Amino acid sequence: MTKLAINGGTPSKDVKNNPWPAWPVWGKEEEVSLLEVLNSGVWSYNGPKEREFNKLFAEFTGTKYAICTVNGTVTLQLALEALGVGVGDEVILPGLTWQATAATVIDVNATPILVDVCEDTWCIDPKEIEKAITPRTKAIMPVHLYGAFADMDAVMEIAKKHDLYVIEDCAHKHGGEWNGKKAGSIGDVGSFSYQLSKHLTAGEGGSMTTNNADLAERMDALRNCGRRPEGDEYINVDKGAGVYGDDGNFLQSGNLRITEFQAAILIEGLKRLPEQNANRDSNGAYLNSLFLDIPGVSPLKRDKRETKKAYFNFAFRYNKGEFKGLSVEKFRAALEAEIGIGIDSSYEPLNNCSLYVPHTKPARHRLNEKYWAEIDPTRFSLPVCDKIYKEESVCIHHKVLMGTKADMDLIADAIKKIYNNAGDL
Ligand SMILES: Cc1ncc(COP(=O)(O)O)c(C=O)c1O
Repeated sequence: MTKLAINGGTPSKDVKNNPWPAWPVWGKEEEVSLLEVLNSGVWSYNGPKEREFNKLFAEFTGTKYAICTVNGTVTLQLALEALGVGVGDEVILPGLTWQATAATVIDVNATPILVDVCEDTWCIDPKEIEKAITPRTKAIMPVHLYGAFADMDAVMEIAKKHDLYVIEDCAHKHGGEWNGKKAGSIGDVGSFSYQLSKHLTAGEGGSMTTNNADLAERMDALRNCGRRPEGDEYINVDKGAGVYGDDGNFLQSGNLRITEFQAAILIEGLKRLPEQNANRDSNGAYLNSLFLDIPGVSPLKRDKRETKKAYFNFAFRYNKGEFKGLSVEKFRAALEAEIGIGIDSSYEPLNNCSLYVPHTKPARHRLNEKYWAEIDPTRFSLPVCDKIYKEESVCIHHKVLMGTKADMDLIADAIKKIYNNAGDL
């Protein structure tokens, strides 16, 4: 039998001579556009590139307004603030997500309520949302994780029934579609990230999308020192329907603007995104079909209502029972050695996550003893998240899906090689 690469055998992929597609992708268009910005001297502050990108991204997401800001963490925080979520409120979100989804709730002095996810999509479980609702619940933050989509029909129905806001965390879902509706256009606000690993990137950056004009105005003001979207006038808080009280004329906020250089890169990246998404979708579907012939690995469920796929990571489920008890950690290491690209677990569940530790900031978050106890993440039980993280998650950066069908065959063959040699590990 062939020796596994992790044991000194020949790797399945020769990445030196035949590397994976590179990420990020850029071309002459970015160079021209960046030089244009440089030479214009207009490097920031609601410049023409930023305005153009906002317009294009609103069109792309099928929303009326898109507003860009510094990253996909700030987008969540500003969405919460603009909706008036804060002291005394609870926000329900999945336990399996990047720490920002929960941390931003604490940053507006509200309480994150962590609930479990569906085992076949790794996205928020609607049944768990229902169970977690209390008179204090103000919003739900579903996350469309990796290649999957939260069940937005169920989320929106629950939100309607209980009169809750919905902020879609679309950090992984630029261009994804649910029932023909673009990610970020279904809830009250969509939140996007343009951090370097994301499938639309400017190194850093983020956008908020909405169809609500008042909300758009408030979110815009919150990233621009309280100013109105157009010109230098300041927003009158009375327009905020009492959200900010009526004791002043100007909305308190700060500078969370992006630069024209970022907007220039985003405009060009957005032009490439539909084709890149389609290629990733086609390769992802093909790779998932190859998994049918390999015991112990299975795709995440693709819901019929997910009409367009968008991948941040290609994620799949592993079952060590079929691999002679080989732990998922060892499986990931063996696959990494075979195909020469980093293989990760899912995010750590937020009830036990090294990067989500609100109790390390008492000066900021210890508002009172009751609140301090409420924001202790360890009080939540998340058995499904736990199982996914500890036993079954395998996640690979979306750039592996940007190659050819032969690359997909190679990944499947590498997994088969590990399957056939599992006893050697
Ligand atoms: C689900 C999710 N939400 C929010 C964020 C935050 O985005 P950013 O890194 O742009 O702040 C991320 C980043 O990885 C994410 O994965």
